[in-house]
Amino acid sequence: MSRIRILPENVANKIAAGEVVERPASVVKEPVENALDAGARSVRVEVEAGGKRLIRVTDDGAGMAHDDALLAFERHATSKLRTADDLLSIATLGFRGEALPSVAAVARLLLETRSAEEGQGTRVEFAGGKLVSVKPAGLPVGTAVSVADIFYCVPARRKFLKSETTELGHIASLVTHYALAHPDKQFLLKTPTQEIILVTPVEGLSERVYQLFGRQALEELVEIPAVSSPVRAAITEPELEPEERAAELGVRGFVSRPEVQRSNRNGIYVFVNRRLVRDRLILHAIHEAYRNIMPPNVFPVVLLFADLPYHEVDVNVHPSKIEVRFRHPQFVHDFTRDAIRQALVRARPVPSFPSAGAPAGAKAPDQAIAARAAADAAGVSGPPRAVIPATLPGEEAGAAEAFHLTGAPLRPEPQRLRFEAGQEIGFAASPEQFAEQFREAASEQLEAVPARASAEGLAELKPLGQVNASFIVAVNAQGLWIIDQHVAHERVLFEQHLQARREGRVNGQRLLVPIVAELSPRQLVIFERIAEELRENGFEVEPIGPRSVAIQAAPAGISSADAERLLTEILDGVERENQAISMETLQAKIAASTSCHAAIKVNMPLDQTKMEWLLAELAKTECPMSCPHGRPIVLRYSVREIEKAFKRT
Ligand SMILES: Nc1ncnc2c1ncn2[C@@H]1O[C@H](COP(=O)(O)OP(=O)(O)OP(=O)(O)O)[C@@H](O)[C@H]1O
Ligand SMILES: [Mg+2]
Repeated sequence: MSRIRILPENVANKIAAGEVVERPASVVKEPVENALDAGARSVRVEVEAGGKRLIRVTDDGAGMAHDDALLAFERHATSKLRTADDLLSIATLGFRGEALPSVAAVARLLLETRSAEEGQGTRVEFAGGKLVSVKPAGLPVGTAVSVADIFYCVPARRKFLKSETTELGHIASLVTHYALAHPDKQFLLKTPTQEIILVTPVEGLSERVYQLFGRQALEELVEIPAVSSPVRAAITEPELEPEERAAELGVRGFVSRPEVQRSNRNGIYVFVNRRLVRDRLILHAIHEAYRNIMPPNVFPVVLLFADLPYHEVDVNVHPSKIEVRFRHPQFVHDFTRDAIRQALVRARPVPSFPSAGAPAGAKAPDQAIAARAAADAAGVSGPPRAVIPATLPGEEAGAAEAFHLTGAPLRPEPQRLRFEAGQEIGFAASPEQFAEQFREAASEQLEAVPARASAEGLAELKPLGQVNASFIVAVNAQGLWIIDQHVAHERVLFEQHLQARREGRVNGQRLLVPIVAELSPRQLVIFERIAEELRENGFEVEPIGPRSVAIQAAPAGISSADAERLLTEILDGVERENQAISMETLQAKIAASTSCHAAIKVNMPLDQTKMEWLLAELAKTECPMSCPHGRPIVLRYSVREIEKAFKRT
């Protein structure tokens, strides 16, 4: 007897729902994406009980005709694809025709929709995958999807739902990322008692970042101006076809100053063609861009938008479309890395005193949204504000992690645009007029943002003396500066050493007496592997026994006493990189270790000439803001901050 059976459709739909519907936020995602695909200019998301009780997404997009409203619930029913070839260049967020039937399979769903072509709308109701009713209804053009009681017919799943606060956090994070990708659209997220997010259409990304995260966030970010380049094949790839050569990759966005350090990747938002993705390749490019500017075990905040022709990206590689595959990955990687790096180098951001004092890498629980959601659950309504948690949808991370740029809890800013509780800013009340007022207010406040601190003024610094024979105190027109003399010199030597290495002219210095060093078996293996590179860096090291080597020469500036320590440090450093290490990384590591050992130490008095020389050399470097290990080099106390502290403003 046959054991294999074709599953009935309602069972198949529930299985598909398992992929699409993981939690309330993944339900919100589907109608929001549909709204954007339908050309909506405003997307309104209302949730109750963290989305567990009710989710309602309303849009003013194209809507659906009566017949389509029913067809939409068939599996693989989509208006976004026709042929298999269309799969190779997908321009919409959805394309599989699975979302609506999947959601309808596990909840009660009400679809209300009208297209401009029809005088009257359609109301379709499903419960647990079964069609309950279809009725004509007087409705505005657009679509509203209400989903109630998620998993009410799948109790096993219901148990896995987290607290309301957690689920609301995920939803807020999701709406935030769509709002970032579409500054020209209006987004609203509200609960019965609070507006969590309300952003009106604005010109560009920076205004949107301001709306969502506030002024302080904007000050802590460096803009990556839009840059683009024709796609190039990597050396190892076949030549490009002529039409491929016309393809352009554009990159823009914001990255955090190096002193803004997070303990996880939750502050990294990467969009490819406005789709939020979690892409290892781009994450690696970001990591590379911060190499030798930021310590290796912390993460920046990044809002990165990569745009390229649709046929250059395959979005059909992951069940929840969160991963993509590039046709020319190496090019995308290198171009992204260079765009970020250049933005950081150009901006030369320096920390000011207070922000440098914030604990680096501090884990920031999302106190703001947690508090607000808790208050909400308790029925207390506080002033609404765009407060943003920041886990990537689908990411298994501390769900209550905030999109904090500082590591400090988000504070209500007095100058922040705020909507008072109870103030009704409905969609109905002329959104255009409201948007206009909002834009005016926002631009006034944006102008009040002080010029971002940059290391540009370094060249004019006048040193006054040292604190504790370790830190140089200097002034220029921008304010008062403190420079860590050791790391400053380290940065200077690091860049000089790397440059010399690239040009094949690192000077070695013969030691008066060779130093004999004992190496461990692991160190010996690594020594064999990188002996050639060590020679290029000024070392002369000869094996003289089964486990010992004689150091005859070391890079210039390294004392005999330091030569052995430097060698073992390099060998151990390479060992810790447990994967294959690239030539570039190896060279940077050697340069970083060498410059650290050769640099001026702390507790060393410097005369005026020496201080002036050091500051002048530092000003010439590419990245005067942080040492090769990622520590800050300079702190600035701006004139404005000084005046403020003395209550003169
Ligand atoms: N808000 C909306 N406005 C207009 N049309 C919509 C809306 N939501 C759904 N539709 C229509 O219903 C169809 C089915 O939607 P559904 O989300 O199930 O699939 P999809 O978006 O095509 O693909 P995916 O499963 O990848 O999301 C869409 O292709 C679209 O034509
Ligand atoms: Mg869809």
